[in-house]
Amino acid sequence: MANIDTSKLSWDEWDELQNPPPAETDFDRVVESAVSRRGFLGGILAVGSAAAAMGTLGNLMSSTSAQAQDTDSRFAFKPIPVFTDNTVHVPEGYAWKPLAKWGQPLFSNIPDLDPANGVSVENSDKVFGENTDGMELFVIGDRQVIAVNHEYVNNEINLPHNEKGMPKSADDVKILQNLQGVTVMEVAEGEKGWEIVVDSPFNRRITHLTPMKISGPAAGSDLIKTEADPNGTDCLGTFNNCGAGKTPWGTYLTCEENFNGYFGSSDPNFAMPDDFKRYGIAAETRYGYEVFDPRFDVSKNPNEPRRAGYVVEIDPSNATSTPIKRTALGRIKHENAAVVIARNGRVVVYMGDDERGEFLYKYVSNGIYVPGVDTSKLLDEGTLYVAKFVDDGNGEWLALTPETTGMKMDEIHVFTRQAASKVGATTMDRPEWVAINPVAIEAYCALTNNTNRGVKKNAGGDEMPVGGANPREKNAYGQIVRWYPENEDHASGKFKWDLFVMAGNPDVHKDAYAGSSNINSGNMFNSPDGMMFDSTGLLWIQTDGEDTNEGDFLGQGNNQMLAGDPATGRIERFLTGPKGSEVTGMTWSADKRTMFVGIQHPDAPFPDGEGKLPRSTILAIKRADNALVG
Ligand code: FEO
Ligand code: CA
Ligand code: CA
Ligand code: CA
Repeated sequence: MANIDTSKLSWDEWDELQNPPPAETDFDRVVESAVSRRGFLGGILAVGSAAAAMGTLGNLMSSTSAQAQDTDSRFAFKPIPVFTDNTVHVPEGYAWKPLAKWGQPLFSNIPDLDPANGVSVENSDKVFGENTDGMELFVIGDRQVIAVNHEYVNNEINLPHNEKGMPKSADDVKILQNLQGVTVMEVAEGEKGWEIVVDSPFNRRITHLTPMKISGPAAGSDLIKTEADPNGTDCLGTFNNCGAGKTPWGTYLTCEENFNGYFGSSDPNFAMPDDFKRYGIAAETRYGYEVFDPRFDVSKNPNEPRRAGYVVEIDPSNATSTPIKRTALGRIKHENAAVVIARNGRVVVYMGDDERGEFLYKYVSNGIYVPGVDTSKLLDEGTLYVAKFVDDGNGEWLALTPETTGMKMDEIHVFTRQAASKVGATTMDRPEWVAINPVAIEAYCALTNNTNRGVKKNAGGDEMPVGGANPREKNAYGQIVRWYPENEDHASGKFKWDLFVMAGNPDVHKDAYAGSSNINSGNMFNSPDGMMFDSTGLLWIQTDGEDTNEGDFLGQGNNQMLAGDPATGRIERFLTGPKGSEVTGMTWSADKRTMFVGIQHPDAPFPDGEGKLPRSTILAIKRADNALVG
């Protein structure tokens, strides 16, 4: 890490550095020699795996691109080229405007962010948090309320007077803790466009300190009890809130991703429990919470990290409601939680675990959803499954139960990764968001990239072979896998799958790294991440990747947002973000005439222009003719 400015890294990138792959194995040496052999052959990836993968993919890729040439576009916009500049670009006839910026007040008599001094500790839980991510809009009576995640903070800017932004007091820690988590805020469209409704009774911050309940199979387990919570049912805070989800009963699901990064050890000789390694919990941290807040010091509170890594349910209609950690949905580095009601009324939640070689999960409730009937147990009582993708285009959901794993129920729901390894799940290329098509029985997962594919094992020692849904060695571009549940039933145990797209660079590569046939010089991108369907069945894809615009990424510009047509495979670019940013999180206004899109960790002075502090921002995007945008 010596030559890397870690303050510029997204949390995903930082975690990848902190969680180095296992030491070199014999397999590494085999791959090393394969690399030399490729050099000799003069091809970048001439060896069997990818060539074979292309053959398989010929069958597995649906015949989408041929159709794309012959079919009229369903996109209402004129695609835009790439950009490498400091602002946001959208198509002709569309315009964007900031809705909410990091540090913006949610209540009156609170000042806007002071770039020289940051936010005061007193105000730090009364302003819009930093680094916006997944979001959902709720219609509550005649009001519109957005719940949105704040994944992480840039400590150097929030603690501008401290060396490297490291906390020097408990108050410094509290500022960082309060600027992350979730914002719930009422929004309204007036003369000046969309704005936060300051002082709305819905406005609320949920932070690293907010009291929460723990429910489901891990609640009350000895594995998660602490001195402060001898019952194992009450905890504080939600962490590294990445993607999100929404239930049909009007609650928000916030997903705890790289929670490991907040827990450290004041005692360098503390013997870390065995399960910490799989989740990347280590002595050193990015923020140093553990120095001033013993809850984050694992040498004093070794069970505390096992109380994070869950999906948390929040009722946005009641600012005094207590969030609930739903352990039935597993403990992983949760990306998002895509909810659908299966044909038989059961609640199905698809979830990715974003780490190299981790897995894709599905939860199916025991009970059925009936509008107006008690929903409090639907995310507590059910079965967790993990996906196995077979190379021939078939797939299976493997149940994680005491019978299949040899583990107790609470262990399965605290050490979920280990349980999934036991049943032989397929190691994936970093599963990010899952999106469910509202007009067809199919779901998609963005597999963002995995430069260890075919090279290393995952942190649990599972092989990461090249093939199937993860067809490219050292996969730097990513792909989107799609599955079709058996009998058109999301609760079914089987599925068929194909790849909707393999990202790549056809200007630089002529092999599998050029991407699938629906990728061309005009629409190429890398590292798909955020993904949602709009109500018309178009798939919106956001990227969190390399924006160097050099080498393998030449011609791909800044991170971006594209739209994909599931029927034709056609993909077109809709938006480009400012330099250094990731485009992540989206939702729509009730009338579908506004699309809200999140810009996370810009390096550029966005959105306020030259000389101003870069601020993570939610944008409101509209058409000049006020037509529907989703
Ligand atoms: Fe928070 Fe995997 O993105
Ligand atoms: Ca990210
Ligand atoms: Ca993400
Ligand atoms: Ca990412």
